[in-house]
Order: sequence, then C-alpha cells, then structure tokens
Amino acid sequence: MIEVKADSRMFGEIECDALVVGVFEGEKPESGPLQDLDQKVGGLVRSVIESGEFRGKIGDVAYLHQTGTMKARRLMLLGAGPELEFTGETLRRLAGTATRLLRGKKVRSFALLLRSGFGAAASSEAATEGAILSLFEPDKYHTSEKTENPLGLMVLVGEESHQREVEAGITRGRIIAEAANFGREAINEPSNVLTPTELARRATEMAREVGLSIEVLGEDEMKKLGMGSLLGVSQGSAEPAQLIVLTYEPKEATSTETIAIVGKGVTFDTGGISLKPADGMEAMKYDMAGGATAIAAMRAIAQLKPSVRVIGMVPATENMPGGRAQRPGDVVRAMTGKTIEVINTDAEGRLILADAVAYARQLGATHIIDLATLTGAVSVALGDVYVAILGNDQPWIDRVMQAAQRAGEKFWQLPLDKEYREQIKSDIADIKNIGGRKAGTITGAWFIREFVEETPWVHLDIAGTAWNEKTKPHLAIGPTAVGLRTLVELVTT
Ligand code: BES
Ligand code: MN
Ligand code: ZN
Repeated sequence: MIEVKADSRMFGEIECDALVVGVFEGEKPESGPLQDLDQKVGGLVRSVIESGEFRGKIGDVAYLHQTGTMKARRLMLLGAGPELEFTGETLRRLAGTATRLLRGKKVRSFALLLRSGFGAAASSEAATEGAILSLFEPDKYHTSEKTENPLGLMVLVGEESHQREVEAGITRGRIIAEAANFGREAINEPSNVLTPTELARRATEMAREVGLSIEVLGEDEMKKLGMGSLLGVSQGSAEPAQLIVLTYEPKEATSTETIAIVGKGVTFDTGGISLKPADGMEAMKYDMAGGATAIAAMRAIAQLKPSVRVIGMVPATENMPGGRAQRPGDVVRAMTGKTIEVINTDAEGRLILADAVAYARQLGATHIIDLATLTGAVSVALGDVYVAILGNDQPWIDRVMQAAQRAGEKFWQLPLDKEYREQIKSDIADIKNIGGRKAGTITGAWFIREFVEETPWVHLDIAGTAWNEKTKPHLAIGPTAVGLRTLVELVTT
C-alpha cells in the first residue's frame, strides 16, 4: 500500500527520501525547472546531462546522493522521452518505474515533480495509477523471499494553483488502480483456488463493500433460461458454473442507456475433449481475465458513481474433458433459440458469451461491451501490444476507441466484414463454433455477434494483452487487467 499526497510547496522544500524528476530527451539543464534544480544541487544536473550518459530517453536513470540545498536525501532523474510524445501513459510508466526502482533501494517516501502539459487532474491521476499498479506482485504464494515494500508515500509536487484538481486526480487514480489490482489478484490465482464459485464469492464480497447489487445464477437457473450453450461447456466439469450479474444503479440517471460489461470467466481452459497440448497449458488459468476485469471495473464504477446504469456480467465456468464433457459434433441450443454445432470444444469462450450477451439484452442492456481472452490468433495479428476491437455498430466502436485513447490503452479495430460470416456456416445447425484457420479473431467475434442481434455491441479480444510475459521497469510479470481503464473511462466520462 502506498499513500499518495499532494504538496504545494516548492520541490526543494519537501522532506523525503528521494525527489524524482522526469527529464525530456535533449532537454537543456538551463531550461525550465531543470535550471532551478541544477542550481540547488550545485551543477550536478548539468554535469549528468553533459556527460552524455543520460539523454532523457525512456529507461535512462541517474541516481544522485548529493542533493545540495534540497530537503530530499536523494535525487533521481528519469528519462521521459521526447516532450512532444509525453502522454498520460508515459507519466504512468515513469511513476511506476520510479516506484519500483526506489522500492528496491528501500526508500520509504519520495516526491514526484509533475511537469506535464496535460492538466493537473489528468497528470496526478496517471502518476497515482502508475505507482499503485507498479507495486502489484504475483508472488502471493512465495513463502520466503517475498518482495518487500518499505515504500509508503508518494508526494506529488508542482502546479500549486491546482491543488483541488490534483486531489481529485489522486482519488480517481487510486480507485482505478486499486480496482485493477483487485482484478489482477483474481487473474493471478491458480485454478484450484479460483473456481467459478470462488470468483462469485469474491464478486459478492466486493459488491457488499461498494454497494452494488449482485445476483449469482446457478446451473438450474441457467437451465430454466435455456442457456444450453453455456451449460454445454460447463457439463464436463465437477465445479458448477456460475453466472455473476452485478448491477450499478445511478441515483439519478442522466441517460437512458444501460451499458453491459460482459467478461469471459473460464477459470481454467483445458480445451475440453479438444484437449490443448500440455506445454504452456498452465497459462490457461488466466482465461477468466475478461471476467475478473469486468468485476473490477464494476468496483471502480460503484466508487466513481457515474449517472448511467451499468450491468457487469460474468459467465464463469471451467472447460474440462471427462466422461460427461461435451463432444465435438454435439449440437446445443442457446438461449436465443439458435442451434450451434460444436466442432471444437476449445472454442468455448464464444459459447459461454453467446448466452451471457443474450441474457444482458434480456436484462435491458442497450449497449454491450464484452472482453475475452478469446483467440490465440489475436496474438498472431497484434502481439502483446494492441487489444483487438470489433463490433456491429461503428458509433459505439468509436466511443470505445476514444475512451481507450483517453485511458492510454491501445486498441486496434479489425473488420467484421459480412464475408467472414461464411466461415461459421454449419451443415447441421444454425452456426458452428469455429471458422477454420483464417482470421480466427474475426470469426470468433462473428460468432458472438450472432447472439447480440441488433444491440450495439463491441468485442475486445484480450488474449494477447491480458498477461504480461516478463517484468518491465514499471510493471511486474503477470496479469495486466487490460481494458479496465477504458471501461471506467467509457462509463464515467
Ligand atoms: N482461451 C483460449 C484462447 C487463448 C489462447 C487465450 C492463448 C490466451 C492465450 C480460447 O478458448 C481458445 O482455446 N481458442 C482457440 C480457438 C480455436 C479452437 C478456434 C484458439 O485460439 O486456438
Ligand atoms: Mn479454449
Ligand atoms: Zn478459452
């Protein structure tokens, strides 16, 4: 836990273990706040820059033990990259990098000089998020050598005339980042701990804490609703499926919209009878990342209290082989009445989402956004950098894209062209659940589209981006909760 405070005094006056200053690429020591800083430390900043060892590139670090007349005991200069490319995301990463580096040096408090051109609220929000997100570690089950965190305080300095905006940014940043870490905690859990029942329990506990209503449907209720597609996936598992439905009701709605956030919650994906290879299968514990992120977004939404109604819906199940498991070739009937030929039991995400989006519509959703670790193909197309976004309504896609842009998350639209629909035609049933090797992310999205019918809907394929495969300066290896900031931005602004 790190506390974040604003301080309107000059940076030289702040009593703390370290002062962190971002330096732009090619920035001169005699310009702007650097001049003042350089003077206070007796020319050390100039000498660091003129040495050529520190050029302000992302990743450049200088850590100085002489702080001259300043009250901070150390000075850290961090490369901030080209000034013209400096965004909220750069600042988020800069704050995260500083936090993780200083944690390693057993620092207890640091001050961060905010010097952005994009406003006090946005920059304090980004810095707060960066610090809190950077401290998440996936080492819960280490019984020794756990990452210790002596770092308890970050002070944001600068822009004293905007104190109120800075405070508001800190509050919002904390809500968002703590929600993300709550989601990451669940995504990181092994599947023997995080069963569908346990995910529902955590959602229920969270709902009580933040004042959301929640309903969890069991398999009998799903059966009554005709959710044959979802139940077909869960029938091979000893763990019962759960359909988690969270509702945020605004005090006074200023909009007639109801936005449904639907997240894929496969707590472990073996592939089922179409079994996956053993190599790397352990990663399939994160196949509920979309679901956990949807639940986490609802947590932040409950705390930020926007004036629009929001439903969070998570179909949670395992995908297991076994004597009762669904077979390739089986035909199931979804809630909408459509029949599905299950060619490959490993294409289970779309099967559970088919019934979830239909139920979201029945509950009054006017706009749907689903997020799912749906296809390996999305990593082939976009790697671990961009989330794929597809949908049936360009204005709704554009709204989500713009929210992603503001939130600093990278989304790239793929074409949901009618011609791809051919690939999921079945000779036996209304539709089949795989569309061959070509354009796998698009045919996966097409399948879901068949069940949202005319409701504006957007699909995010996060299979490539939900898990960070190696530790970065600002972020630990493991779950990212990608999509959360966009969802919160979409609903709250
Ligand atoms: N959960 C997987 C997709 C996935 C792959 C997520 C890698 C994260 C990392 C999904 O259920 C799946 O198995 N998809 C299949 C679809 C295929 C059978 C049409 C895939 O991508 O291979
Ligand atoms: Mn699968
Ligand atoms: Zn899956």
